[in-house]
Amino acid sequence: MAVRIGFAYNQKPALPAPKKTGDSAVPSLDKVPANRALRTDLPQPDLYAEWDEPETIDAVANALSSLGEVIRLEAKDDFPRRLLDAKPDFVFNIAEGLFGVNRESHVPSICEFLGVPYHASDPLTLGLTLHKGRAKEIMAYYGVPTAPFIVANSRSDARNVNLPFPLFAKPALEGSGKGITQKSLCSNRAKLVQVVEELLETYQEPVLIESWLPGQEFTVAVLGNGKEARTLPLVGMRFDELPLGAQPIYGYEAKWLWDTPEHPLDLFECPANIPKELARDVRSAALSAYRILGCRDWCRVDIRCDAAGRPMVVELNPLPGILPNPQDNSCFPKAARAAGMTYDGLIQTVADIAWRRISGRALLKKAAERKRAAA
Ligand SMILES: Nc1ncnc2c1ncn2[C@@H]1O[C@H](COP(=O)(O)OP(=O)(O)OP(=O)(O)O)[C@@H](O)[C@H]1O
Ligand SMILES: [Mg+2]
Repeated sequence: MAVRIGFAYNQKPALPAPKKTGDSAVPSLDKVPANRALRTDLPQPDLYAEWDEPETIDAVANALSSLGEVIRLEAKDDFPRRLLDAKPDFVFNIAEGLFGVNRESHVPSICEFLGVPYHASDPLTLGLTLHKGRAKEIMAYYGVPTAPFIVANSRSDARNVNLPFPLFAKPALEGSGKGITQKSLCSNRAKLVQVVEELLETYQEPVLIESWLPGQEFTVAVLGNGKEARTLPLVGMRFDELPLGAQPIYGYEAKWLWDTPEHPLDLFECPANIPKELARDVRSAALSAYRILGCRDWCRVDIRCDAAGRPMVVELNPLPGILPNPQDNSCFPKAARAAGMTYDGLIQTVADIAWRRISGRALLKKAAERKRAAA
C-alpha cells in the first residue's frame, strides 16, 4: 500500500501592491513584486518573508507524489483537526509557523501530541535554532566555533555592550533575512544603539549583537542522520556581485530585492573554489553544529569567517528555503544540483531519509517497486 504523506506548510498570503512612500530606503516598487517589497502597511516590513509561495508548495507536493499519496495540510488553525482526520503515515514539514517565538515548533508539537510521526527536526531543536542567541550559547558550550555575542533586550543593553566594534545587529528570532539590512553593520556605539532600538520596536523580540565577521561566507546543506549525516557541495558567496558600495551582507536587500528571478545576481559559487583545508573546516563546523543542536534529516548551516580566516557558525536553518526555480538562487536546491540531484530527487531523498528514521523502511525503493509492478 502507498505511504500516506501529510504535507504541512504555510502559504504566503497574496498581498495587494504596497502603497508608494517617499522613503528612499524602499527600492523602486516597479521592480519588486508585492510579495518581496518592504511594506509600510504591515506590523513588520518583511512580515511574510519566511512563508512559502504556491510555486514552492506545488513543487514539493509534486515531488512527494511519486513516493505515496500526498495530503496537503496547510498549517492554519484547523491543522490539528485535519491532521487527526487524515492520520497520515508521516508528515513532511516545511511549515515556518504563524507567530511567536515557538512558531516553528507548533507543527511538530501537534504531530507529537496526536501521535503522527513527522519529518525534520523536533520542537526543541526548532525552538533552539530559531533563537540565534540560545543556539550560539549551546555551540559555545560545546566548542563549536561561533562569534562572540550578547543578546540585547533593551536600549541600555546595546549602550553597555562590551565587545569591540564593528558589530552586527539582527533580530534574534527571525529568518529569510528579516530585519537584516545594510544598516545591521554598526561601526560605532551611536549607530548600534539606534539600530537596536529600531529592531526592538519593529520585531518586539531580543536583538542579537555579535562581532562583525569580515571574511568569506558559505552555506552548507546537510542531509542525513547519525553517522550518515553528510554535507552537499559547499555554496560560497560572491559579494562583489552586490551593487557598488554595498556591504558584504546577505540580508533582506540581497536576498529579495537586488537578486530577483527577472534579474538574478551571480552571487554564488557552488562548489566553492577554496583550499581543501578551509573546506574541511567549514564542513566540520557545519556537521558539529548540526549534531550538537540535534538536527534531523536536513538543515542548512550558515558560516562566515572571522578576521583570521577561521569559519564561525552564524546560524542553523533546520527548515531550509527550497525555492524550486533555479533563477531564485535558493541555496539548498543549488547544493543538491551541484551534487547531481534534481529538485524532485532532493525532496524525495529527504523524505526517504525521514521515513527510514521513522519506520526503518526505505521509501524510494518502495515507490520504484510499486511503479514497476504497475507497469
Ligand atoms: N556576525 C556577522 N558578521 C557578518 N555578517 C553577518 C553576521 N551575521 C549575519 N551576517 C550576514 O547577514 C546574513 C543573514 O544573517 P542570518 O543568516 O543570521 O539571517 P537569516 O535571516 O536567519 O538568514 P536565512 O535567510 O539563512 O534564514 C548572513 O548571511 C551574513 O551575510
Ligand atoms: Mg542565514
